[in-house]
Amino acid sequence: MTTIDIWLNEEIGRINPNIYGHFIEHLGGVVYDGIWVGEDSEIPNIKGFRQELIEKLKAINPSVIRWPGGCFAETYNWRDGIGPREKRPTTVNWWYMNDGKLESNQVGTHEFIDFCKLVNAEPYFAVNATTTTVLEARNWIEYCNMMQATTTLAQEREENGSPEPFNVKYWGLGNENWGGGGCMTPEDYCHIYRKYGIISKSVGQDLQFIACGPYEDIPEWTAKFFDKYKEMYTVGRVAPMFGYSLHYYVTNTGRMGTELTYSDAQWYELMRVGLDMEPFIQSQFEMIRAAMPGTSIGLVVDEWGVWHQQNGRHPLPGKYLFEQMSTMREAVLAALSLNIFNNHCDKVVMANVAQLVNCIHSLFLAKGNACVATTSYYVFDMFKIHQHAISLKTEIKCKNISYSIEGNPYDIPSLSCSASLKDGKLAVTLANLSVDDDQEIMLKLNGGQYTSNGRMVVLSSNNHMDGNSFEEPYKVTPVEQTISAGGFELTVTMPKASVVLLTLDVS
Ligand code: AHR
Repeated sequence: MTTIDIWLNEEIGRINPNIYGHFIEHLGGVVYDGIWVGEDSEIPNIKGFRQELIEKLKAINPSVIRWPGGCFAETYNWRDGIGPREKRPTTVNWWYMNDGKLESNQVGTHEFIDFCKLVNAEPYFAVNATTTTVLEARNWIEYCNMMQATTTLAQEREENGSPEPFNVKYWGLGNENWGGGGCMTPEDYCHIYRKYGIISKSVGQDLQFIACGPYEDIPEWTAKFFDKYKEMYTVGRVAPMFGYSLHYYVTNTGRMGTELTYSDAQWYELMRVGLDMEPFIQSQFEMIRAAMPGTSIGLVVDEWGVWHQQNGRHPLPGKYLFEQMSTMREAVLAALSLNIFNNHCDKVVMANVAQLVNCIHSLFLAKGNACVATTSYYVFDMFKIHQHAISLKTEIKCKNISYSIEGNPYDIPSLSCSASLKDGKLAVTLANLSVDDDQEIMLKLNGGQYTSNGRMVVLSSNNHMDGNSFEEPYKVTPVEQTISAGGFELTVTMPKASVVLLTLDVS
């Protein structure tokens, strides 16, 4: 039997709700057809945004949304997206690829802020640090955040319909600047980052700057960046840093099968790479703390998810760029990733799954009138209870799974778990990584006891390759049941390839 020890008195920290964040980029079908259908559309909408998606997204407490990219941010001119929509310029956007590469700019700063308000999320803006100037970034911040009736830019915002400032707090300074964001060296980028210190003095009210960190396979970026940053920090001439961004995709170029069909070994291989997020977080955090002792820089995993790239980076026929289907495999991967973030909430202050709709590890698929919630959407729904709660220490004793792929043997644990406590309610989320075995799990409580019956929500399907689609939008949805609990121990049975939420009163 699998056992999990949970310590009520051993707190890891408070789970920042921003760990449950999202990412919207002007790429493929994310913005246009995804969230935006236009005010004149026959598709039910609020201020031009797809109503069904708004309602479903709001229901899972989306906390924070990153925009407008990604790579798109590195060629974005924020001025193209303000003012009367009919007068906005049409610009080139390589990230539509097969759709004529044209950007209508119908969704700009004001619309994106409207969207955030509609779903009750904080905006997180990514600044172009590659093809524009620090002054342009300062102007964008001033346009968004200066009080009414102050500067000319604040007045322009008012003329464009928003007298009240947007108070955008989170600003990412660049995106993947080691690659698409300018092919910079860590030293080049640090030099640019330094200049933003001046902005923080001129328009900085509670601004939280996020610096560009590495992709998982370029760890030397962090050491070199912080060597330079430290030098400048010591003399006080560098932008302060709230967060350091990490991108971590589980990239499948064929080794893990296809989106919809995979062998057991290919399922496990995807989980193994997903589990490697944990040492990546730990090692990046240690490097930052070693370089900058006494500072509180947190990790912002602002792009993560499963990315199927069997076709390289080209759109699949009849699909948007990077559009992919998902199954229970993405759901279990999402659950184990969120468990990792909860368990490292003393390090991770934000995470944004890539991307919200019609792209990579989506929570929605949307086309025409249809808006389907994927299996991962339900995982976010089940896990939202962790937001603001205190993450607790847990220890799992479970069976390992052995498999081999391309002739190489591997071992992974069969279970992932995190636990949190809020207002006397214990929430435990579990991912059963095994496609072969249900698991009987005993949850032992240390430092307290279960005081009443609880609730168990299960996301699973008879076939672990099942998922939701336009044809079968509700094939996989969570099922809820009550469970009896009391004393110090509770035993539950968890189906294979499933995600479970347990909520229990404890004292
Ligand atoms: O999410 C798609 C792309 O992946 C983003 O634009 C970029 O930042 C990353 O490489």
